Amino acid sequence: MTDNRVRIFDTTLRDGEQSPGCSMNLEEKLRMALQLERLKVDVIEAGFPVASAGDFDAVRAVAEAVRHCTVAALSRAVTSDIERAWEAIRGARKPRIHTFIATSDIHLVHKLRKTRAQVLADVAEAVTCARSLCPDVEFSCEDASRSDLGFLSEVVAAAIAAGASVINLPDTVGYAVPHEYGAMFRVVRERVTGAGGVIFSAHCHNDLGLAVANSLSALEAGARQVECTVNGIGERAGNAALEEIVMAIATRGEALGVRTGIVTEEIVKSSKLLVSLTGMMVQRNKAIVGANAFAHEAGIHQDGVLKSTITYEIMTPQSVGIRHSMLVLGKHSGRHALKQRYAELGYRLTGEELNQVYRSFCAIADQKKEVFDEELVAILDDRAHSTEEYYHLEGLQVTTGMNMSPTATIHLSQGDQRFVDSATGDGPVDAAYKAIERITGVTGKLTEYAVKSVSLGHDAIGEAFVSVEFDGVLFHGRAVSTDVIEGSVRAYLETLNRARSAQKARQTSNSVPAAVQEVS
Ligand code: KIV
Ligand code: ZN
Repeated sequence: MTDNRVRIFDTTLRDGEQSPGCSMNLEEKLRMALQLERLKVDVIEAGFPVASAGDFDAVRAVAEAVRHCTVAALSRAVTSDIERAWEAIRGARKPRIHTFIATSDIHLVHKLRKTRAQVLADVAEAVTCARSLCPDVEFSCEDASRSDLGFLSEVVAAAIAAGASVINLPDTVGYAVPHEYGAMFRVVRERVTGAGGVIFSAHCHNDLGLAVANSLSALEAGARQVECTVNGIGERAGNAALEEIVMAIATRGEALGVRTGIVTEEIVKSSKLLVSLTGMMVQRNKAIVGANAFAHEAGIHQDGVLKSTITYEIMTPQSVGIRHSMLVLGKHSGRHALKQRYAELGYRLTGEELNQVYRSFCAIADQKKEVFDEELVAILDDRAHSTEEYYHLEGLQVTTGMNMSPTATIHLSQGDQRFVDSATGDGPVDAAYKAIERITGVTGKLTEYAVKSVSLGHDAIGEAFVSVEFDGVLFHGRAVSTDVIEGSVRAYLETLNRARSAQKARQTSNSVPAAVQEVS
């Protein structure tokens, strides 16, 4: 029977952790290891014990805490390293020693300064030593993808003969292209005696952005273990991203002919935990775990997703642990998504209401990247509060700064008539209110003024509240805008328009409009 089960070897705590900005202390490694166990990875590589006392302690703590996964520790092909690695993981329920040596001539000549014969001898000795301590030994040929295939096959044969049960052929510098990386596995598996009795493993770095593609190519060529990290963290451009490999297999399992044992619903939780432990953010458009991975903004896409999610989603957000996909409301959004979001917020809008709200929404969305729920509610409130518009704001210009008098120029319309005037004031808002007084000839007494942010972020919309007394009667106005001065002017004009409506109402009846409050 063919083995189609891919073992997920997670090296977030070793290859990932040793990259800039990703280091974790013992407590943090433990928390991440327990999450990896919930994710059901097959192997957790916990660290490189000989590197430091801290790494040794962390590997030992992980080995003792983890219950179901194999726990691996890395060591160079050096007896003292191997013994130190074993000390760290011997308390694990399923320990693995992972030992490695470089096999490319580039590394032999420039780094190890050893001959091929010396390396072959080191491999046999190291694997034999590791095997005498631990029943599960993985051997890696560092820089395998740039190694001579004949020599690589000899090294692999020596490692298998000495007792290695997993053979890893890394693309250490992210140099391989998929067909070439897959071919290396095919050749080695065909040539080496005993290759059928071990598991071959892929370990790809992402220098050319090909780590996941190369890993999948290795699977096609018979590898049955993939080494990867959560969020793809790792040396330089990182390692193959666990979530991408796992979801490629989950989504395209039939095309790839393999499966994993990963609990995919734990993927986003694992990603978020790693971000919170390391502070290493994930780009918004990162596959699977980026903030935009299940977000739609374009009107056509939103309309499609609302009709049926399969139009634009190849996997469900729930399958990676997100409750639902997100329709981001921005300048590309359409009425369908807006109506849906209002419905989710508890507002059922008629066609005419939706049209009105959509106009305000578009004006705001044009000025900022995303319109948030609280801003949608503010738009609705704004509409509900609006009264008959007697004076309409056509334009506004303010000049302000240090050591100068703030000046405002206001353009108003009243029916077909247009007015413009300027004034100076104590501040830009005061100047704008004075310019309005000059145009309308109506003087109000500002008794209350407040501006607050409706949402978070530098482009959040501000909500202005003002209370103005006209002829002894107090009127309240409110307006939202991304520009607080514009919002303040609109709120003031609202009070003016209310005062005007109240005056008209008083002329036609004895009833007092609801918006009017007598000043005590
Ligand atoms: O990239 C690499 O070659 C490695 C080995 C040590 C497995 O990380
Ligand atoms: Zn690596």
